[in-house]
Amino acid sequence: MIETSAATYDVGGVLLERPFKIRRLGHFGLNALKMEECVRFYTEDLGYRISDKRNFGERAERPEDIAGFGDPHGYFMRYGTDHHSFVLFNKRVREYIDKQRHFAPGVVMNQISWQVGSLGEVVNGCDWLNEEGLKIQRSGRDMPGSNWHTYFYDPDGHTNELYYGMEQVGWDARSKPEPMWDRMFRQKPELPQISEDEEVRVAEQRGNDLNAGYEMRDSLPGKDYDVDGILLPRPFKIIKGGPISLFTADIDAAARFYAHEMGLRISEEIVWNGVRCVFLRANTEHHTIALYPIELREQLGLRPDSTTFSIGIQVGSYRQLCDARTFLAKRGRRFIELPAELHPGIDYAFHVLDPDGQAVQVYFSMEQVGWDGRVRPASSRPNPKPGSWPATLAGEADVYGGETLLGPLG
Ligand SMILES: [Fe+2]
Repeated sequence: MIETSAATYDVGGVLLERPFKIRRLGHFGLNALKMEECVRFYTEDLGYRISDKRNFGERAERPEDIAGFGDPHGYFMRYGTDHHSFVLFNKRVREYIDKQRHFAPGVVMNQISWQVGSLGEVVNGCDWLNEEGLKIQRSGRDMPGSNWHTYFYDPDGHTNELYYGMEQVGWDARSKPEPMWDRMFRQKPELPQISEDEEVRVAEQRGNDLNAGYEMRDSLPGKDYDVDGILLPRPFKIIKGGPISLFTADIDAAARFYAHEMGLRISEEIVWNGVRCVFLRANTEHHTIALYPIELREQLGLRPDSTTFSIGIQVGSYRQLCDARTFLAKRGRRFIELPAELHPGIDYAFHVLDPDGQAVQVYFSMEQVGWDGRVRPASSRPNPKPGSWPATLAGEADVYGGETLLGPLG
């Protein structure tokens, strides 16, 4: 059991143990080696859309040093209306230009970013984490994306972020124009700040073209697949990001960080081949963070240069999940078979490898955990074997439960 401090922080009129409450995993990102191929995989194969891109190569003191590193851009991608749900950076370019931030060996996640309920929670959370002895990497407000944030590390060096206020992108697929990036902050903001609506009014009054932002639609146009009544270029749609599954050098320290510092709740612990694995949730999903001892990496045959076991994406239905596997196989993607016991709470999942060999966990439904914190007994889970999935499933009480996609499939 992890001890917690007294509930003394007023979060919107409710007394909590920390001055913030994580509502959801909002976005995450990878630093890629095969940058061009990874951009194609995450956009064309998986269907993320690019909402903005930035040329990080411009920050290189000597451009010739990064000449062989491939596309130096950073890509901000979305599946819904959040400006970014997934961020792809060039690993070697970022490691060359990043002076402020240290990437520990094997860390390929550029961020694990948690949405809280207000700017006050970000600012007060930053102070609290500092008092807890965590090194704050940076705080402020980034553009593109407009989200107010504070960044810090977990014990294995994975960058975590608390944020509020992600920019929303609508039907016209346009992000905010660059002149509105004047509200970027490079330090923790004073409270209170003006609203986004007021920022838009100011930009309009000074004559900014509000429609001049970056605009990009699906990079794989087409209408080949009937996805339950809508024609899409692929037979599935991402409806949610996560969970993030991590390898850790010290499972106790990592679990303590995510439970005590972040306030996630432990849903389940398992022992697999003699090692303990811990699963934590932010909201009602069985888990958003899965922690595995690093010695499992080689046993499972996962990418040897990454402390990320997998990144998760949820698709809209069981049929979409089955069709996604066929679609990705047709496009020549490779898969890795992993025991279902290693992802309790997700009965049906497959793992596809991105061009860097990073496992991406694809699933359609996750067990939901309610007020009493109880998970389903392991004995009542199906533990399906690869290649023997049924054509249809019996509906469990919590199927299609949890966070849902707001808006059209395409
Ligand atoms: Fe972020």
